[in-house]
Amino acid sequence: MSDSITLSEWQPDRNLGLELVRATEAAAIRATPFVGRGDKNAADGAAVDAMRRFLASVSMNGFVVIGEGEKDEAPWLYNGEKVGNGTGAECDVAVDPIDGTRLSAEGRPGALSVIAVADRGSMYDPSAVFYMDKIVCGPEGVDVVDIRKPIGENIRALARAKGVDVSDIRVAVLDRPRHAQLIQDIREAGAGTQLIMDGDVAGGVNAARFDSRIDMCVGIGGTPEGIITACAVKTLGGLIQGRLMPRDDEEKQRAIDAGHDLDAVLDQNTLVKSDNTYFVATGITDADFLAGVKRHGEFVRAESIVLRSYSGTVRHIVSDMREDRWGV
Ligand code: FBP
Repeated sequence: MSDSITLSEWQPDRNLGLELVRATEAAAIRATPFVGRGDKNAADGAAVDAMRRFLASVSMNGFVVIGEGEKDEAPWLYNGEKVGNGTGAECDVAVDPIDGTRLSAEGRPGALSVIAVADRGSMYDPSAVFYMDKIVCGPEGVDVVDIRKPIGENIRALARAKGVDVSDIRVAVLDRPRHAQLIQDIREAGAGTQLIMDGDVAGGVNAARFDSRIDMCVGIGGTPEGIITACAVKTLGGLIQGRLMPRDDEEKQRAIDAGHDLDAVLDQNTLVKSDNTYFVATGITDADFLAGVKRHGEFVRAESIVLRSYSGTVRHIVSDMREDRWGV
């Protein structure tokens, strides 16, 4: 608020995240009957359909930059689709109706429904290379942690910056064979690992949050998830750094032809140029920072987090919805 106006004159601006949260809630609720049923596509289809319907009510001129891509083969919320009611600001939209489709299909913790939005034209184009090597941590890691350094050095530097022992540092890593050496290096440095089966958006958000038991999230995961995480980091503080990791020579050549520098370190300001970002997530199954959808009699409870970088606000929203009066 400017010094020259009084409180009675001041008009708070709108927080788009408070509209977007209805879409992640809807996606999470509609995915829930499929939790643990072993059918990834059914859960994802229900989440996509619900998210799309609710996004149509949001006052924005949204353009899907990160949609349901090659991995999910979904017919809706594809890259280039226009979303929103066509009024209001032009925005880039990144959706992941379920980050952790396998987690939700198997009834495991950590599946989220996620949307990130930023000013139009500000999100990095993720189409060139599917995977990115990433490192995410909280504010203490800024100017301290660097993806080009060995993991042990980064762990020791972060522990010093946080004023804790290296043995207190816990690092989230996707549990993949490609991370065997990385996991060994983390342990040899004296830190602990939290191996996650899927969902490195949640891993990254946890690494940046001040009230989490995770200090860092590292390893190779999806490039789209890196951009979505950058939108969250812009509110939470901290850093994300990434480097594109082509899967094969063909992908590498395509990226080079498209002008990508494969050695470049992409930080949050490259992954999302705008400082006006929203990150909204609702728990599908229980996650570290969000409980999953639960039924209480005639109510359905959904827990969400709404992050807005402009104001730096972190909102935790618990919604109890009456199913008989709520529909998609
Ligand atoms: P989806 O649930 O959207 O398919 O993504 C899950 C996920 O674990 C991401 O969080 C992560 O970035 C990516 O997959 C890792 O890819 P892979 O499973 O190929 O290692």
